[in-house]
Amino acid sequence: MSASSSVPVLTIDGPSGSGKGTVSRRVAEHLGWHLLDSGALYRAVGYAASMADIDLSDGDAVTRCAHSARIRFRPSEDGSDTRVWVNGHDASDELRTETCGATASAVAAIPSVREALKAKQLAFRKRPGLVADGRDMGTVIFPDAPYKVFLTASAAERARRRYKQLKEKGLSVTISGLQREIEARDERDASRPVAPLRPAEGAMLVDSTGLSIDEVVASVIALVQADT
Ligand code: DC
Repeated sequence: MSASSSVPVLTIDGPSGSGKGTVSRRVAEHLGWHLLDSGALYRAVGYAASMADIDLSDGDAVTRCAHSARIRFRPSEDGSDTRVWVNGHDASDELRTETCGATASAVAAIPSVREALKAKQLAFRKRPGLVADGRDMGTVIFPDAPYKVFLTASAAERARRRYKQLKEKGLSVTISGLQREIEARDERDASRPVAPLRPAEGAMLVDSTGLSIDEVVASVIALVQADT
């Protein structure tokens, strides 16, 4: 058994808009564990490839980019947030855009890109523990994790949440357009041959549609604490 395999991992997988990001951050803070936002790695590779004018259909070129991109997670100056730096540039704001989400979904479908990001993800497994947020955390990256959650919500609810966020930023979008985009992305993420989005065996299934973030956070913390 390697030293890192004795470090506990809580995997939180699910589609975008399920509340994974917020829940993972809050649970990691509560437990005092490290946090891996694996979606940010795929977004960072998509961003680095776009910056280098790489054609996203050229899998070998995107894979080289995934190997060479310098991706760093650093606390913001006031410590309230984590910023993602890509090749020496704070790309956090660009990474959150819908365009970057679509680019990330495209590069995430390339098997050799997923392989290239594997070691970077495993390196997050450090004491006292790790909360790993993504699509294949419990199925592929940390299959031996002692705690696994699959978080979901209806597409209509996820579109409504996304609409609220984007409206607050002053962007002009429609709920029906967002719901169509969400359904198309779900379909792509669930039907790709490599690491498709699906619940890990033994994962606790949580549908957040009618639940508050506090309720979801409490049930995830209870899963870990029931055992410690
Ligand atoms: O969670 P997110 O929206 O930041 O993820 C961006 C894209 O990356 C999403 O379309 C699916 C993909 N992704 C993935 O394939 N595997 C992961 N572990 C995390 C994200």
